[in-house]
Amino acid sequence: MKGAPSSRLDKLLANLGYGSRREIAGLARAGLIRLDGQPLRDAAARIAVTPDLPARMEIDGEPVDPPPGLALLLHKPLGVTCSHKEAGPLVYALLPERWRRRDPAISTVGRLDKETSGLLLLTDDGALLHRIISPKAAVPKRYRVALDRPMRGDEVGIVASGGLLLEGEDKPLLPALLEVEDETHAAVTVTEGRYHMVRRMFAAMGNHVVGLHRDRIGALDLPADLKPGAFRPMGETEIAAVFAAG
Ligand code: URA
Repeated sequence: MKGAPSSRLDKLLANLGYGSRREIAGLARAGLIRLDGQPLRDAAARIAVTPDLPARMEIDGEPVDPPPGLALLLHKPLGVTCSHKEAGPLVYALLPERWRRRDPAISTVGRLDKETSGLLLLTDDGALLHRIISPKAAVPKRYRVALDRPMRGDEVGIVASGGLLLEGEDKPLLPALLEVEDETHAAVTVTEGRYHMVRRMFAAMGNHVVGLHRDRIGALDLPADLKPGAFRPMGETEIAAVFAAG
């Protein structure tokens, strides 16, 4: 079996955003870094970087942040953006300030528009990110949609047909699932990730989306107890659920 990766203590903590290597050496000398209850005074010591580190290491009396390999599920509230390209507060501002200095950086897995709420995954694991967004994986994403006008009645067939063309594109969408809840509410499950895709799907069918919320990725539901703006680390089972058929 491959052993756990190891890192110099100062490099590990600098990459987790705790300060410069020099500052970390200062914390170590002051006895503020403890592993399994014992002070680690040598910032050059090599540490096995295991997922249980937060249970074993303390920095100034607080559990160390989760090491790289972090995946989070977050309930994105309305009004925050996933990209610098959109105006407004970034979703990263919902994370602890120190986490914004992590290397590797935490990124969103795909994006939700500023006016879309719901389940958003974030990770610092590039391989995991690409596995989730890869068209080959075809991970289904379910959106709850509120519409401005009653549906006409032909939308389920159009969405299922694999022939729906979005404005300005020449490649039709893949077949998707539309489940009608009432005449202005539906759930739509898509396996692609095109720009403003769900809003543009309904625009292409003569309607207008007035509310959009993602509640499921793969077989992973937005946890009912996760309030808008809240997040938590994902466990192995939740990561596996993303890839399980929805
Ligand atoms: N489709 C949209 O239109 N917006 C999103 O945020 C996600 C899917």
